Amino acid sequence: MAGPRCVASALRLRAAGRSGLALLLQQRSPGSASPARRWQAAYSSGRPKTVEINGKTYPTDPWFNVPSSVLSLTSRKLHLQKDHPVSITRKIIESVFPASTYRYYNTFDPVVSTYENFDSLGFPPDHPGRARTDTYYINESTLLRTHTSAHEAELFRSNPTGGYLISADVYRRDEIDRSHYPVFHQMEGARYWDRSKVPHGDLAAAVLEDLGRLPRHDMTVQDPSPPFHAERNPLQPHHGPAEAEAVGAHLKRSLELMVHEIFTRARKAAVLAEGAAPQDKPLEVRWVEAYFPFTSPSWELEVHYQGDWLEILGCGVSQQSLHIHAGKPDQVGWAFGIGLERVAMLLFQIPDIRLFWSQDERFLSQFRGVEDHLDRLRPFEPFSKHPPCYKDVSFWLGSSSAAGGGLGGAADWHDNDLMEVVRDAAGDCVEDVQLVDRFTHPKTGRKSLCYRINYRSLERTLTNAETNEMHQRVVDGLVKRFGVEIR
Ligand code: DAH
Repeated sequence: MAGPRCVASALRLRAAGRSGLALLLQQRSPGSASPARRWQAAYSSGRPKTVEINGKTYPTDPWFNVPSSVLSLTSRKLHLQKDHPVSITRKIIESVFPASTYRYYNTFDPVVSTYENFDSLGFPPDHPGRARTDTYYINESTLLRTHTSAHEAELFRSNPTGGYLISADVYRRDEIDRSHYPVFHQMEGARYWDRSKVPHGDLAAAVLEDLGRLPRHDMTVQDPSPPFHAERNPLQPHHGPAEAEAVGAHLKRSLELMVHEIFTRARKAAVLAEGAAPQDKPLEVRWVEAYFPFTSPSWELEVHYQGDWLEILGCGVSQQSLHIHAGKPDQVGWAFGIGLERVAMLLFQIPDIRLFWSQDERFLSQFRGVEDHLDRLRPFEPFSKHPPCYKDVSFWLGSSSAAGGGLGGAADWHDNDLMEVVRDAAGDCVEDVQLVDRFTHPKTGRKSLCYRINYRSLERTLTNAETNEMHQRVVDGLVKRFGVEIR
């Protein structure tokens, strides 16, 4: 997570038709974490003393902010459900990284410490990703991991091979639309070499030799930036230039091969399904400089897909401090993280992220047998398109001054608060929520917001009565939890 959101938002289609206002809402200021009392108030009536997740019991405290709808998804493990598109995508990625070098870890528990998720990776104390508006906390020191990087420090210490792949469910409080869901899956990989074990201690030479053994590909790669850059993408003091350059080159080829595998399969599937002529234009990708607290230099990889540049992963040369803290000061290498749903959405042409959680046979049956026969991969065929139903909710926030009580105050408000109320009230029956108007009263300074909620089930046509009921629950939830005044 470079900014408040990295790969999750990075994987979003650029300019995917969002309104300017919706985009505005995504730009969160650092340090916007609200006081714990806000959660105390919001959950005072219903906070359980303990929660059980995958058979273990955890005490909650006023930091607790995990709705039961999200808790109930912690046992689903879509990445391990045979023939589920998330699991198929995992398998395709695994096929590019041989298990002899990259040990696979697919069963790590989603509950991790705040330390593992943030501190161990060098996230500063005021990093916006730590805010309770963005992250699901069980208590102050325990949370639902927001990324698979949470396991990096531990694996740098304990993994017996020179690399690994992790796949796992990750959790983020986020907006509601067709490409965001509070639970999704990531895959993380790393590869490292040990200066004390390579011939003549020449790490760069050993890495380049390994690079020479990797296959080549026919993609067009744009890579305009230098291997490192003093201000924008610095070399670490622990690394020689030749080392960093070699590690960066091995990283880039490895990840290009992964992307090549995914997109070649996506293209083949589309051709088979549509009988279209195979595309003879080579795939095009580009490397873009990036920032992550736990790598330097860092990059994102973008793929040219249907006329757009899509960011699909984050990566870089691992911060040496992580290896040093792991008791392995001689290890040097790279790491990456990729979101599986976004890749699966492209691979299978799945139009809405909620579908991954569907237990409907019309969805699941379309992928049966594919995991063992990847050549049978075909695009998903939508089984229905039910009508949307838009409803607006407009409300005044409370006063932003401390005397105003804080709850529902403009300074405290975060659009993820509304998202959670909507999910609680309507579950997966909401396709997206957009801020359509905001207004500050010129005299009183009070702030008013209007959100448009699109009620649409993937599985059936909603009746008017049930849509009205759900919307009423949203309105009541807003008033009860955040003390807003409905307009
Ligand atoms: N954890 C990052 C995220 O979720 C992705 C990532 C970036 C993982 C760089 C890495 C890495 O291992 O080296 O946004």
